[in-house]
Order: sequence, then C-alpha cells, then structure tokens
Amino acid sequence: MVKIAPSILAADFANLAADVARVDGEVELLHVDCMDGHYVPNLTIGPPVVAALRPHTELFLDCHLMVDNPGRLLQAFADAGADGLTVHVELGDTAALLAEIANVGVRRGLAMEPETPYEAVVPYLADIDLLLVMSVHTGFGGQPFIPEVLDKVRAARKEIDARGLAIEIEIDGGIKVDNAGRAAEAGVDILVSGTGIFGAEDPAAAARAIRSASS
Ligand code: DX5
Ligand code: ZN
Repeated sequence: MVKIAPSILAADFANLAADVARVDGEVELLHVDCMDGHYVPNLTIGPPVVAALRPHTELFLDCHLMVDNPGRLLQAFADAGADGLTVHVELGDTAALLAEIANVGVRRGLAMEPETPYEAVVPYLADIDLLLVMSVHTGFGGQPFIPEVLDKVRAARKEIDARGLAIEIEIDGGIKVDNAGRAAEAGVDILVSGTGIFGAEDPAAAARAIRSASS
C-alpha cells in the first residue's frame, strides 16, 4: 500500500496545527516544503516552524529542502524534530550532504528536478533511504503533473528491486486522484499531495480518495 504525505505548503499557515489535525490518523507522513528564496524563488518555512509543529503531531516530518547550502541547516532541522531530510542532487556536494544527514540521525533523502536524468542519482543509491522524484518544478504548489517523470520512477523501481535496496520512492507535485494510480503503478511508495489534500473541502476524505485511487 502506498503512503500518503500531505504537503503543508497548501495548508493554512495561520492554523497549521489545526490543519495537520485534520489529516492525522489518515496519512503516514507530513511533507514540509522548505524554500529559501535562492534555490527557488519562493520563501516558506524553516526549523522554527518544524519545532513549533513537532509537539502537535506524531506524524513523520518529511522535510524537503529547496535551499542553497543545505548543509548549514541540517542540524537545526534535526534538532527541531525533522524525521527525514531530503536534499537536491542538482546542488552538488551530494555525498557529503548525505553523510551529514546520516550524522544528524534522520532518514536520508535525495531529490531530483523533472529535467534531471535518472543517471544523476544512481551513484548515491547505496547511501539513501528515500528517492524523491519531482513531478513539477520546485517552487510552488498547484502546478500540473509532468507525466514524463514516471519513466524515472520505473527505472528507479527496477534498479531498487534488482539490487534489493531499502529505498522508498516518493513523487511530489501535481498528485491528485486522477494520476495517483498511474504513479503507484510506476512503482511509487509515497505520494506527496498539497493542493490535492489541503486544497480540498475535507482533507481527510481527499487523502482517502487518493489512497484508494492508487490501490
Ligand atoms: C513544490 C513542492 C511540492 C508542492 C506540492 O516545490 O515541493 O511539495 O507542495 O504541491 P501540489 O501537490 O499542490 O503540487
Ligand atoms: Zn516538496
């Protein structure tokens, strides 16, 4: 069964704890989009907000770092209560960043933009716990799903299974009821959905609908 990770980017930032409570019990992770205004044009949240959220939920806090120089923030995110930290392969210095994520004691994630070829992440597969395949360009929620990235999901699924690696594949961007099935079929383990869940009238029902569309 796939896991569901609502992205709080689409939640009400003035009522985060209340919005998170609406999906608690229905989903496995909370996806936290951290943007710095440099790696991406948008600016969102950092360790203080993760720390503020931490006492309100036991959900796995899956932090997606869309920031330049993520190395200087890893310890602060871990101290704030992040359960997983994901950095982008496009930034370079990947081996050192993954080692540092292991060092701060959380799940190691590696993300790739839609145009980045699958081959870019292959050298790091032995050193990660999560592969995040972006299905929109990072920066904003509510963009349309890019179906071509499913080829990368298929390639990753094949290699992970063949090598017996313990890596979960996560897809992020434009996931809704109408494409969740295709993503799951391609081999995704974790579906991130922002507007598809928190943009819905009833986020818990939307999460359930995405889960049943993917099974
Ligand atoms: C985009 C973020 C996504 C975004 C997904 O940079 O990484 O996690 O919140 O939002 P939707 O599901 O609305 O595309
Ligand atoms: Zn994200």
